Amino acid sequence: MKTSGGSDAAKRRAGESAAEAVTDGDVVGLGTGSTAAHAIRRLGERADAGLDVRGVPTSFASRELAAEEGIPLLDLPDAVGPEGPGIDVAIDGADQVATGAAGDDPLSGGALIKGGGAAHAREKLVDAAADRFLVVADPSKESPRLDRSVPVEVLSAGRTAVAAAVRDAGGEPTLRRAERKDGPVVTDNGNLVTDCAFGEIADPAALSATLSAVPGVVEHGLFVGLADEVHVGTESGVRVDE
Ligand code: 5RP
Repeated sequence: MKTSGGSDAAKRRAGESAAEAVTDGDVVGLGTGSTAAHAIRRLGERADAGLDVRGVPTSFASRELAAEEGIPLLDLPDAVGPEGPGIDVAIDGADQVATGAAGDDPLSGGALIKGGGAAHAREKLVDAAADRFLVVADPSKESPRLDRSVPVEVLSAGRTAVAAAVRDAGGEPTLRRAERKDGPVVTDNGNLVTDCAFGEIADPAALSATLSAVPGVVEHGLFVGLADEVHVGTESGVRVDE
């Protein structure tokens, strides 16, 4: 599983803190990445100790880990369908978390960039469907404003059209390549990922709407107005921002 950012101890504190917020009978969205993996492992321990919990994975990797941990699983369409139980809480990591800069719209605090693990399309479905979405992060992910590249999942046939639209919107697109293979990254959904550098993003909601409107874009990694709590693990403890 891809690991990025700060120390593993800080990630573990964040993940375990969010896992402790899960209550008996909950259906839990299981995020992707090294920080969310700590939450999944802690939930596995709690399930072993008798917690009644079911998980809705956001990727093949989180499904595999949850299965290893013995967490009973539900597919997203079954969880949120008319007969489904819904999702009580989702726990997921982030590549960047906006803390807000002076003069910003107060709603821009808590906006996220996700998709470092190319799982953001399913992550957004699960995180948006949950009654509560808890972000787990270490301090290296925090920034007054978002300024990392925004991952955009694209249909293969649309990659050059999407790249042109991203340039029109002021961004610089780069097709993501697999680290150890001679070829592009292919998502769990069979699509490609373009990482789009926009510099500092002053209005994440406006950019989110612009990217969503481009034909060929399956999903992008800007998560605006979705997070309910951010659990930030530090070297000595955890801070929870609401
Ligand atoms: C995957 C994601 C991850 O949550 C994000 O990349 C953070 O990963 P990590 O916790 O390993 O730093 O969005 O698509």
